[in-house]
Amino acid sequence: MSRPEDTLFVPLHPAPIISGIPSYLPITSLTPPIRPPDLHYNDTEARKYTTSSRIQNIQASMTHRALELLSLDSPSLILDIGCGSGLSGEILSSIPPPTGPHMWVGMDIAASMLDIALQRDVEGDLMLADIGQGVPFRAGSFDAAVSISAIQWLCNAESSEVSSTGRLTRFFNGLYASLKRGGRAVCQFYPKNDLQRTMISGAAIKAGFGAGILEDDPGTKNAKLYLVLTVGGSTEEGAGGDITGVVRGMEDVDVVDARRKHKEKGRKDVKKGSKAWIMNKKEQMERKGKVVKNSSKYTGRKRKIQF
Ligand SMILES: C[S@@+](CC[C@H](N)C(=O)[O-])C[C@H]1O[C@@H](n2cnc3c(N)ncnc32)[C@H](O)[C@@H]1O
Repeated sequence: MSRPEDTLFVPLHPAPIISGIPSYLPITSLTPPIRPPDLHYNDTEARKYTTSSRIQNIQASMTHRALELLSLDSPSLILDIGCGSGLSGEILSSIPPPTGPHMWVGMDIAASMLDIALQRDVEGDLMLADIGQGVPFRAGSFDAAVSISAIQWLCNAESSEVSSTGRLTRFFNGLYASLKRGGRAVCQFYPKNDLQRTMISGAAIKAGFGAGILEDDPGTKNAKLYLVLTVGGSTEEGAGGDITGVVRGMEDVDVVDARRKHKEKGRKDVKKGSKAWIMNKKEQMERKGKVVKNSSKYTGRKRKIQF
């Protein structure tokens, strides 16, 4: 596999960045005029996609890169999110011992893609499902997850009944639960703009993941983004601790870490017991899945002494 010329890794601050769509943005920037994925990947498109040798090569190389970031040292059970016709999945099955082959379960919304996967007799188990509805597996079922060129589709749903924020939240919450503690997920994705990139990474962080974005060949037309996610539970670097541990030691990776500055700034400016301090604590507890009281104008106000 060829090495990327240049790679950037940005660990993300654990605060959720966006929890809704800012009203000042035109809704059209989030709603490309394309059909939903299950209609887009009809029989004709699914066949064209799967038989293109250019696509086969790109998907294979991105799946190898995702596996490198997962750094699994033994055969594992992997969830392939948006598995399509099995181009990514067949790479998981092809890893030789002692690190592979991996077993995998694929989820996809497009029946035509899964039909081709069946005809190609892929090794994985297949499930027709919409990841925007959640990830319906028993908690802690998977050692790891990959997603190649799929999750940006979650940003396309935007109507009065369906919000992309809600679909992203259901997906990342479900994914977090379905992974073992200390597990990792790597999602290669094609955001249409910075807002989509932020919505996706913000939703992952809100679900509790440690997150960073790795970008191969940044600034070129071949740039590839990988959202690297870890499930907490360990103080070990890279396994829920410091996300930069995931890429430490890799060649040609520049880590751009704005988190420390942010933390120090926060520590200096926020007075203990102040409203900002309380809001911060509440956010931390929410991220840990704790139930916290709603905030109001009274949050953090000093009570008057009653006689
Ligand atoms: C570009 S294909 C990639 C397929 C495969 N991962 C590969 O590398 O060849 C994107 C896939 O994501 C699937 N997808 C998009 N939105 C989805 C959703 N909400 N739930 C499940 N699958 C989805 C599409 O149906 C499609 O098969």
